[in-house]
Amino acid sequence: MYKIFETVDDVSRYTAQRLIAKITAAPAAKLGLATGSTMKPVYAKLLEYIQQAPLDVSQLTTFNLDEYMGLAPQHPQSYNYFMYEHLFNHLNIPADHIHLPDGLATDTESVCSAYSSIIQTLGGLDLQLLGIGSNGHIGFNEPQTSFASRTHVVQLSEQTRIDNSRFFAEQSQMPTYAITMGIQDILDAKEIILVATGSNKSNIMAQFFNSEIDEQLPASALKQHKNLTIVLDREAAALLPEQTLKSAI
Ligand code: GLP
Repeated sequence: MYKIFETVDDVSRYTAQRLIAKITAAPAAKLGLATGSTMKPVYAKLLEYIQQAPLDVSQLTTFNLDEYMGLAPQHPQSYNYFMYEHLFNHLNIPADHIHLPDGLATDTESVCSAYSSIIQTLGGLDLQLLGIGSNGHIGFNEPQTSFASRTHVVQLSEQTRIDNSRFFAEQSQMPTYAITMGIQDILDAKEIILVATGSNKSNIMAQFFNSEIDEQLPASALKQHKNLTIVLDREAAALLPEQTLKSAI
């Protein structure tokens, strides 16, 4: 299902409301969370709503999608830092309910398999929030990642390194590797919300729309999911067919 809104603000409001609805219906929900500039206004709206109408988040469990390898949690560009700054510092989710891949892991194989196992042991994710990279990556699952993948270490593509180096003072500081939940971990979620905003996402959203299910385009794996909502603003949806635009408003 596509939901297309006029502005980023509308997109963020809708997505935050979906999260509130999920938490209200299932206070002990397991949430898969994402980072990136797309998520900042979503989390800001979520916090705003919770401030207006308090919500019990003390039973929630969260799993983040990905993390850069080699960055400590205190590093301002780490996804751990992002999540605490934009969400966790402002909510009383118990610390031991918050899971992020460990970017400093040395025994990566066991750390990765433990991450996917915990999610499965807890019964899987109830809702997975996703952004999308300009090359169609979800989490850090780059083109050609197996759709059967579980949490793993990935070498970032050139495109991703170019896109994400904007957050680092110098491109040389941009990590080369990351740890990411796999595509199968994502597909196992009972519900998925993919959010994309801005004109820099219009090309990839058109590619996604037109694509077959193909490992060259990681996000296309989502087309086989039974409960997927794609939330776009006008700019990200600009290259979708008129008919889709009309029916999604
Ligand atoms: C990053 C993250 C993704 C995120 C995507 C989009 O590389 N690994 O999880 O969804 O790129 O980021 P943004 O929202 O900043 O465009």
